[in-house]
Amino acid sequence: MSDFAWTIQIIYVLAASCFVLGLHLMNTPATARRGNQVSTTGMVVAIAATLAIIVHADLITTTGWIVMIAGVLVGAALGLYSARNVQMTAMPQLVSMFNAVGGGAAALVGIHDYMTAGAGVSATTSVTTLLDVIIGGVTFSGSIIAAGKLQGVITSAPVTFPGARVVNLLVAAVGVGLGAYLITSPSTGLLAVVIAAALVFGVSMVMPIGGADMPVVISLLNAFTGTAVAMAGFVIGNWAMIIAGALVGASGGILTKLMADAMNRSIRNIMLGGFGTGDTAVALAGGPGGDVKSISADDAAIQLAYASKVIIVPGYGLAAAQAQHEVAALAELLESRGVDVSYAIHPVAGRMPGHMNVLLAEANVPYPQLKEMDEINPEFARTDVALVIGANDVTNPAARRPGTAISGMPILDVDQAKSIIVIKRSMGHGYAGIDNELYVDPKTSMYFADAKKALTELAAAVKTLVG
Ligand code: TAP
Repeated sequence: MSDFAWTIQIIYVLAASCFVLGLHLMNTPATARRGNQVSTTGMVVAIAATLAIIVHADLITTTGWIVMIAGVLVGAALGLYSARNVQMTAMPQLVSMFNAVGGGAAALVGIHDYMTAGAGVSATTSVTTLLDVIIGGVTFSGSIIAAGKLQGVITSAPVTFPGARVVNLLVAAVGVGLGAYLITSPSTGLLAVVIAAALVFGVSMVMPIGGADMPVVISLLNAFTGTAVAMAGFVIGNWAMIIAGALVGASGGILTKLMADAMNRSIRNIMLGGFGTGDTAVALAGGPGGDVKSISADDAAIQLAYASKVIIVPGYGLAAAQAQHEVAALAELLESRGVDVSYAIHPVAGRMPGHMNVLLAEANVPYPQLKEMDEINPEFARTDVALVIGANDVTNPAARRPGTAISGMPILDVDQAKSIIVIKRSMGHGYAGIDNELYVDPKTSMYFADAKKALTELAAAVKTLVG
């Protein structure tokens, strides 16, 4: 190997070390920002090394350079604009679109390689090339559908039909079977069929997923993106791409397992479509039944100010209202009166993994106050007031019985608290689209208002009460 090639390999190892260190630093919110910076540095170094190879070996023409630079400028400008301007609540859709772009780009690398190398390609290379095309294609179409569901452009309800699973299996068999055939018998016509099967499978895998189950499919698509990129790295022989893709694939895989466990779902069922929802899902017809009791700011303030233990249950509505600073201020006020305050964090509360953690970290809520579901659930029975703010599905006792869209999903045992105050704007549904039985629990009082407004009023009422 020449000195130049050695130097490039060493730079790639350094870049890969930055990716690993960056991921490690993202373990806690305190070092997460540094983790991002270290990973970005690794990526800049890897891109520079790849450009050095292109220049050194004179790999592309002047037109090629113009196309590449134009692509980088347009892509970077769009990425920067969307990342800077996206609302926190729209972040999951953006991540899904980034997954789509990553998977699609990886698939294009594979398609180009297959079309240009054709019969001359070795068996090992064509295995990774075809895996790249298939996984990249599934990720591309699946992520676009997921983004559409999260944005509300496509219904978040499961879209399925009788025999959908069989059709999914058939499409998968066509894609993988023809892909295997193409390894030894190159044909661009059949490659088009493989691409079409991958795109159709992406759509038919995500359409039957009901709202509440989206977290699992999003992390699965994230893992697919990483895997497709790693395959593309094999195709063009770029180690930095292989390692970066493998890291994303592996961490996405671990996240998928954690999400699936949190939702009590099986990954096999996700891929075949419509699990937990679809065929068996039924929304509670005609509302949950029973009386709904509403409460004023003053009465809620009395309950909170004279409680000895309060658990705050944040959900998507807290993020939508951007009320993280208001909830932190109310919690501080209660703590200054000696109330024991903690936050119950459900793994799929909000619209992205870690959504509530990030939101509350923004308001400098001390990390030890955030308690995971398994840790906090036994505490509800000893709690005077559970204050639910914009959380719905993750508190819905309907999950404990069969036949609903969220059946089997572990929930926060809010209904075990002595008293429950729910802040939300109406009796509207959560993401899963079903009524919440908690709201007609005799212990529950509803505080109908936007979370930010309600929390400001509550803090003012507590202050007036205690002087
Ligand atoms: P949801 O079940 O989505 O309920 C949120 C509630 O917030 C709504 O019922 C809404 O009621 C209320 N709300 C909205 N804006 C509000 C505002 N400005 N002020 C006060 N309340 C407001 O939320 P959740 O309990 O956090 O559950 C998350 C759901 O999303 C789960 O089904 C989960 O599976 C799904 N999901 C999660 C993820 C990840 S990774 N976390 C990704 C995709 C999907 P009103 O309209 O009446 O105010």
